This record gives sequence, C-alpha cells and structure tokens, in this order.
Amino acid sequence: MQTLQLDNGDQMPILGLGTWKSEPDDVYKAVKEAVRLGYRHIDCAPIYGNEHEVGQSLSESFQAGIATREQLWITSKLWNDAHAPDDVQPALEKTLSDLRLDYLDLYLMHWPVALKKGVFIPESAAELIALDILPLSRTWEAMEALVDKGLCRHIGVSNFSTTKLSALLNTARRKPEMNQIELHPYLQQPAMLDFCSKRGIHLTAYSPLGSPDRPEGLKMEGEPVLMEESAITAIAERHGITPAQVLISWAIHRETSVIPKSVNPERLRQNLAAAEASLTQEDMRDIARLDQNRRYVNGEFWALGGSAYTVENLWDE
Ligand code: A2P
Repeated sequence: MQTLQLDNGDQMPILGLGTWKSEPDDVYKAVKEAVRLGYRHIDCAPIYGNEHEVGQSLSESFQAGIATREQLWITSKLWNDAHAPDDVQPALEKTLSDLRLDYLDLYLMHWPVALKKGVFIPESAAELIALDILPLSRTWEAMEALVDKGLCRHIGVSNFSTTKLSALLNTARRKPEMNQIELHPYLQQPAMLDFCSKRGIHLTAYSPLGSPDRPEGLKMEGEPVLMEESAITAIAERHGITPAQVLISWAIHRETSVIPKSVNPERLRQNLAAAEASLTQEDMRDIARLDQNRRYVNGEFWALGGSAYTVENLWDE
C-alpha cells in the first residue's frame, strides 16, 4: 500500500477506514474485518459516538496477533467543545481511553468552530464561541504540547480553508501536517491542493464516495449521486471495477489520503483492493471535468443566526 511520508519519516497508509456514520455494533465488526483484510489506517472521532467500540475491536485484534499497534495508523479528532486550552489534553485522554491506546498517530482539530463545553451540536447561537474570543491559534498551541508529551505523533486540522491554514502557519510552532477535508470529483478543491503541496501539508479526503448515508438534514432535493455519475460508471466499466473503486483510486492518484466508510465486509474488501487499481491520464482528465464545487457537508449547522459563524466565513469564500 502506498503511504504518505511525514516530515519525521513516519509513513501514513494512504487508504484508511472511515468510521463516521457507523453504528457502534457495526463499527466493532467492521474494524475487526478491516484489520483482518489488511487495512492499517483507521480514522476516528469522538463525535462519531463509537470510539469505545473501535477501541474494543482494536484491542482484540492486537491480542489475537492480527496486527500490532505499531503497524496501525490511528487518527482521531478534537471536538469543538474542547477548544479551550485546558480542555484539549483531557479530550485527547478520553479518546485514548476509549480507543484503548496510549498514543495517537494523528490528532486533528475537527472544525475551525468553537462550542461551549458539553455542546455536541449547537441549537442556539449562545452555544457557539466566536473565534476572536477563543482563537484557533490558542487551541493549536495546546495541541502542540500533546506532541511534546508523546500523546500523539502528529497534529493537524480538518475543514480548514487556505485562509485559516495560512493564519495558523503564521503563529504555529509546529506546522499542521494534515488538513482533512471533503474531497471528491464534485469538490476537487484544486487551489487547496496547490496551497498544501507547496507547504508540505498533506490532505485526507473525507466523503470520497459522496457520503450517500449522510444524515437527512445534509441532503438536498435533486442533488447528483456521485457513485451514479455517468463519467464515473463509464470508467468503472472500462476497467472492470466498481464506481466506488474509481473514486478511491482517483483520490490516491492525486496523492491524497482517502477514508471511505463501510460496515459491509464485501465493500471493505472492494475498497481496500481499490488501492491497487490504476487510472489512465484520460480517466483523470474525464474526472477533472466533473468539478462543480459542490459540498455535501457545507457546515451550515454552525451558521446559526445571531452567531459569528456563517457558511461564507467558515470556508472564507
Ligand atoms: P456501507 O457502510 O453499507 O458499505 P463515504 O465514505 O463517502 O461517506 O460513503 C459511505 C457510504 O458509501 C456508506 O453508505 C457505505 O455503505 C457506502 N459504500 C461504501 N463502500 C461502498 C462500495 N464499495 N460500493 C457502494 N457503496 C459503498
């Protein structure tokens, strides 16, 4: 499996298993099967409500000798209600305890959005904290200390615009090594790829299959279905692979990490096999034409009236 090389020489397997939207019972079995099949990278977050089950599954796989801790790359994320510097280390310690690990490979700031402590998804503007009150740079400083303490090997961010990455780079002692963002043929983000490649920041593609199981609140009538896109299905037919495999392979050809979610054993196998698929330059050109700057996860759930957050200032567009 191809890897992304980090500045200290660590290698991150380019393809990982996504766990957003996986029910706890399902994720327990999916992680077991994934590790058995050969997945060596699992992407987690406390807001997914299933880290305890991921941890149980991982510890059983370690005990059974299927893989060692050192062979796996485990990412998790700091939830928005723990941006206050004093809350950052306890949040990571809770994640480590749920995952039954003593370090993470990568810890990401989940969103450039701060919430009051204990709030998971805000229902009113009063539950959000403006970034001029609790700046991202202060949260980042607390995350830098986690690397110093050996609680995580690498730190990064998620859902950051190039503007927010730039601002962070200006104050950071440690560079964010990863930005995990929505990336797929309908949202190709070429300017972000260029910005990050020039600064040695890696990207991870979330919702690479178009997230067909996203919550109803994130769906809009008449939206195109990525895995049914005719250009994608035509390439799949030409190569004798599935549309999901085309999408995963496309992400890998762009040298972004990619974390398709599945709880289905056959799809887990199929998605892992996509790491060995190969697309032609013509395929890549056909897919490049599909970009429509379409976000399935546009962050409007943070843009509550009366708060400092809007969809436009979230993405700095
Ligand atoms: P399931 O978990 O039942 O396999 P994304 O990673 O973009 O969020 O997409 C995840 C969604 O895509 C889930 O609904 C998942 O269903 C489905 N999925 C995952 N792998 C495949 C595949 N190889 N073919 C079709 N659907 C897939």
